[in-house]
Amino acid sequence: MPSTKRIWITGASEGIGRGLAAHYQTLGWATAGSARRPQGPAECDLWIPADLTQATERERAVDALLDRAGWPDLVVLNAGLGHLAPVAETRPEDAERIFALNYAAPVHLTQLLLARSAGRPLHVIAVSSIAARFGQKNLATYSASKAALTLWAESLNEEWQGTPHRIQVVLPGVVTTDIMRHSIASDGQALGARAQDHRGWSVERTARAVERAARSRRFLHILAGPSVRLALILHDLCPSLFYSLLRRKP
Ligand SMILES: NC(=O)c1ccc[n+]([C@@H]2O[C@H](COP(=O)([O-])OP(=O)(O)OC[C@H]3O[C@@H](n4cnc5c(N)ncnc54)[C@H](OP(=O)(O)O)[C@@H]3O)[C@@H](O)[C@H]2O)c1
Repeated sequence: MPSTKRIWITGASEGIGRGLAAHYQTLGWATAGSARRPQGPAECDLWIPADLTQATERERAVDALLDRAGWPDLVVLNAGLGHLAPVAETRPEDAERIFALNYAAPVHLTQLLLARSAGRPLHVIAVSSIAARFGQKNLATYSASKAALTLWAESLNEEWQGTPHRIQVVLPGVVTTDIMRHSIASDGQALGARAQDHRGWSVERTARAVERAARSRRFLHILAGPSVRLALILHDLCPSLFYSLLRRKP
């Protein structure tokens, strides 16, 4: 059906990405998804497996997307990996892996799509995190990767003013997924059963909020409640008070 809209979601095998695929499929969009695992979920009409830490895999994924699905109306660059370790115990190879997926992949995928746009509008949503907005112990590498992504997108948004292309950033707060279990620790292994409970917004609520964001003209969207928004304002206005309150939290 020529009028069917198309979305490509990275990190669509589970968590927020899978929730997004389910939401857009319900809306009647054709959904294409990518992640490392060879088979995708039923929520993705087309599955393009790719390890997005690898530049050659990103190129292959974009080629496969354009060959098999056609030009996407919306691209959500969502694949991401957490890292939980003090700075002193962070192995350089783990920091590189985090930056390869959380920063280099969305940047490179956007460039690859832009190079193939041929006059067609490109609409990208980059999934960052509220962790990009303030420092927390054991999260330096993850937060830095998301902060780099956010500021890169903010810069690109300036470059794209007056062009048909659009980039937006969403900053989820806590969303109930297995992200903590998948996060890597100072030994380079996934936390798995060592992970603490991670409960917040449902993936369904998050997917609805991303879809609303995509329909709005605003560049940046914080997907969290009023207390988190207030805390971020406090961080910007009075960081010393913000951090003294944060340190009192258990
Ligand atoms: N959950 C939260 O509280 C939260 C808060 C703020 C921001 N975020 C951000 O939201 C995004 C999604 O998080 P989530 O909670 O849904 O995490 P998740 O449940 O751990 O899902 C991560 C997704 O990324 C894929 N992925 C991991 N490594 C990959 C690689 N090398 N190449 C391609 N795909 C890869 C995973 O699939 P495979 O394992 O099959 O590759 C999976 O589909 C991330 O960018 C995360 O940083 C999450």
